[in-house]
Amino acid sequence: MEQLHFGVDYYPEHWEQARWDRDAALMRDMGIQMVRMAEFSWHKLQPREDVFDFGWLDEAIELLGKQGIYTIVGTPTAAPPAWMVHKHPDIFPVDREGRIRGFGGRHHDCQSNPTYRSYIRKLVAKMAEHYGQNPYVIGWQPDNELGNSHQELCTCASCRQHFQEWLRRKYQTAEELNRAWGTAFWSQEYNDFEEVPAPRITVTGENPSAMLDWKRFCSDLIVDFTREQVEIIRRYAKNQFVTHNYMGFADKVDYYKLGELLDFVSHDQYPGGFYLPETPHERNHILAATLDVVRSYKNQPFWIMEQQSGITGWEIMGRAPAPGQLSLWAMQSIAHGADAVVFFRWRTCAMGTEQYWHGILPHSGNPGRRYEELQDFIHEVNPLMEKLHGSMPQAQVGIVFSFEQEYAFQIQPHHKDLSYTGQVQKYYRALYEQNIPADFVPEQGDFSKYKLLLAPLQYLMSPELEEKYLDFVRQGGHLLLTMRTGVKDKTNLCMTEGELPGRLSEAAGVEVLDYDCLRDAQVKVLFGEEEFVANIWSDLLRLLPGTETLATYGSEFYEGEPCITAHAYGKGVCYYVGTEPGEALMDRLLAQICKNAGAEPILPPVTDVECMVRENDRERFLFVLNHAGETRSYQAPEGYRLLKGQQAGNLRPYEAQVLLMEK
Ligand code: GLA
Ligand code: ZN
Repeated sequence: MEQLHFGVDYYPEHWEQARWDRDAALMRDMGIQMVRMAEFSWHKLQPREDVFDFGWLDEAIELLGKQGIYTIVGTPTAAPPAWMVHKHPDIFPVDREGRIRGFGGRHHDCQSNPTYRSYIRKLVAKMAEHYGQNPYVIGWQPDNELGNSHQELCTCASCRQHFQEWLRRKYQTAEELNRAWGTAFWSQEYNDFEEVPAPRITVTGENPSAMLDWKRFCSDLIVDFTREQVEIIRRYAKNQFVTHNYMGFADKVDYYKLGELLDFVSHDQYPGGFYLPETPHERNHILAATLDVVRSYKNQPFWIMEQQSGITGWEIMGRAPAPGQLSLWAMQSIAHGADAVVFFRWRTCAMGTEQYWHGILPHSGNPGRRYEELQDFIHEVNPLMEKLHGSMPQAQVGIVFSFEQEYAFQIQPHHKDLSYTGQVQKYYRALYEQNIPADFVPEQGDFSKYKLLLAPLQYLMSPELEEKYLDFVRQGGHLLLTMRTGVKDKTNLCMTEGELPGRLSEAAGVEVLDYDCLRDAQVKVLFGEEEFVANIWSDLLRLLPGTETLATYGSEFYEGEPCITAHAYGKGVCYYVGTEPGEALMDRLLAQICKNAGAEPILPPVTDVECMVRENDRERFLFVLNHAGETRSYQAPEGYRLLKGQQAGNLRPYEAQVLLMEK
């Protein structure tokens, strides 16, 4: 089958069937090659316990198929029907305050509930059997945005019991659990796993070790929930793919682990989401980082399963995308590694929670500005997508990104403005604005392909990970470590063997003798001749012989003491940053260490202009994206020819140019 590149999320069940033909014809004229359907339509597929009705979906699939439009089937398990939860109210999830969350939204389910799981097995098997050989069905999306809305859920009796079993498998005995969780504190010892609660709100305080295991358990539960569906689907659907729509940096499930179940990862990208910052400086690096992390989860090209196609909004709304902006954002997804883009949604819905989450067509169903823009875009870009297929950005910088570190900082953020993912994104921003591409890499990943590895907040540490970092530097890598590294073991107990950052002192050449949580104060930092500010935290360092001071504190009782250092170790260098550098300091620091490591910018930076490269064995594709509503110019590099755009070097407002170099 030919490669498919563009699609829409389609909800035929929201409209009269008499309209479907017109929808299909409009899609075809627009260049749409596929739709995703059915991921919230459980009741339509199984209106009663013993009645299944796939007829409407069969008709929609066939009608679209005849227009050359293929289908991705969503399993509807993100929205269990009223008859089911009415009959089995134990399916409803229970939050940390012990409150039952009711019907009327979506995701009103407990993912460990055995009754719910048996309904799912039955429905998914029927769907997979029914559609597994359908020539118009190309793939599957189990559930929708797994983890979405499950924050703080579920602490029901079933989840509690599953948690206890999970703990029993991990620790075997209550003694071992007590040791790992440090339950001697405040008399929290358990005589048996049966005594362990699912964490409800407490009178005061929480056990950080217990909470970390709870978050791991919740992630594993989602993986298990998905695995069950994927196994059923694969039994019947031998030639159809299985993917899932991720949400970038969302943390409820470890996306690396979830990715092991999937053929490829998909993602939902809403650059103009009403919940995001609006200024380009605050927003663009987050959009880019989100796409890069999605690519990194399986280290391969990905799909966008929902790409913004209009104003976003539930109860309140975001800005209207300006002419050209929807195409620019789709191109941004492609630049970071998307091999296909499915727009959410086809037509703006007239009913329900998402009446103001606008689709390509307005409520009236008449094609307008957004239809025309995306139609032109698809026709122009489709041939380019053929060439791009399978190509990847090749970064020289890796940023370590781990779900467990995120969990540990959610439990103990130290400072009201410190989050693990936020910190990772601050490092990313400085690279982004200097046009230095980066991958994210899991702790278990391959560090060796990077010249420079940034590893902020490596708080939970294991002897294996320590050894891996030491080895990376010994072999010639440049490694950046920061404050709060090596603080805890894997069960979230504090390390007590020696000074921080533990064995990593060997590479970093520093020992942390004391520290200061800065609350609302900023600390001055002197880097070369210049004065900067830093936030959140100050580590007070003792330098081991041979360690070089790059920056010193310029205020507080530790004025004049080292703040940022460099230490040669093996064939490489290890940097230690004892604070959170403010933006200007971050820019300065990363410019210097990227240069030292030989990590090159793609092009000289231009404000609001984003650059990315995708490459394969033969070709290098350079993307230059103007996020500004004004013209911008850049220095078009030698040896490239323009594949998309009017005049290389001159960007119209929101224009995306693509240039090609044959290797
Ligand atoms: C998410 C979901 C969609 C829809 C959109 C808009 O990405 O996957 O079902 O809810 O957001 O809110
Ligand atoms: Zn539950």
